[in-house]
Amino acid sequence: MTLVFASNNKNKIIEINSLLGNSFKLLSLHDINIREDIPEEEPQIEGNARAKARFVFNATGMNVFADDTGLEITALNGLPGVHSARFAGENKDSSANIEKVLSLLINSKTREARFRTVIALILDNKEYIFEGIVNGTIISEKRGSGGFGYDPIFIPDGKIRTFAEMDLSEKNSVSHRARAFEKLKNFLIGYG
Ligand code: IMP
Repeated sequence: MTLVFASNNKNKIIEINSLLGNSFKLLSLHDINIREDIPEEEPQIEGNARAKARFVFNATGMNVFADDTGLEITALNGLPGVHSARFAGENKDSSANIEKVLSLLINSKTREARFRTVIALILDNKEYIFEGIVNGTIISEKRGSGGFGYDPIFIPDGKIRTFAEMDLSEKNSVSHRARAFEKLKNFLIGYG
C-alpha cells in the first residue's frame, strides 16, 4: 500500500519507516512535489494533523496521513502543547525551546509531562484519528545527544535515561509516536 506521509522532516521519516515496516511504501511531501510549508495554525494538535492530511488530499487525492505532536507539561497547563516547535520563537530552535521550558519550571514542584501524538489518516476519502501518549518527567538539565526536540530533558516513566540517551529502538519501545503509529499500522493491516 502506498501512502503519503505529509512531512519533510527527515528524522521523522526515518522513525516512521522503521515503525511501519516494509508493507507500506511511504512518499514524503518532497516525493510528490509539494514544496511549500503546510499551514499549522490550528489551536489543537488534532486540528493541525487533520489540516495537514486534508491539505495533501485536496491537492492530490492520494491516501495520506499526517501527525502532530506536542509536549504537554502539567505545571504549565499543557504548554508548550501545540506550540512545541516554536515555543521560543519562529526559528524552531530546540535548544532555545528547552531553555525556555527549564526556566519556566525552575521553581515548579511538579515536573510531570507527557508527549502526545495525533495522527490523521485519510483513506479512500474517509478520515480516521489515532493517538499515542507517553507520560514522563522533565529533568532540570539536558542529558544525551540523540533524538531531537525536547528529547534531552524528557525521561519516560519506568526509564532512567532521557529519550536523547536512548537509541531509536529503545525510544520506539515506549514513545508517543510509536504508540500512535502502532495503532495506525494495526488499522492499516486490518483494512487490507
Ligand atoms: P511535530 O508535530 O512532530 O513536528 O512536533 C512538534 C514539535 O514537538 C517538534 O518540533 C519538537 O519540538 C517536539 N517533538 C515532537 N516529537 C518529539 C520527540 O519525539 N521528542 C522530542 N520532541 C519532540
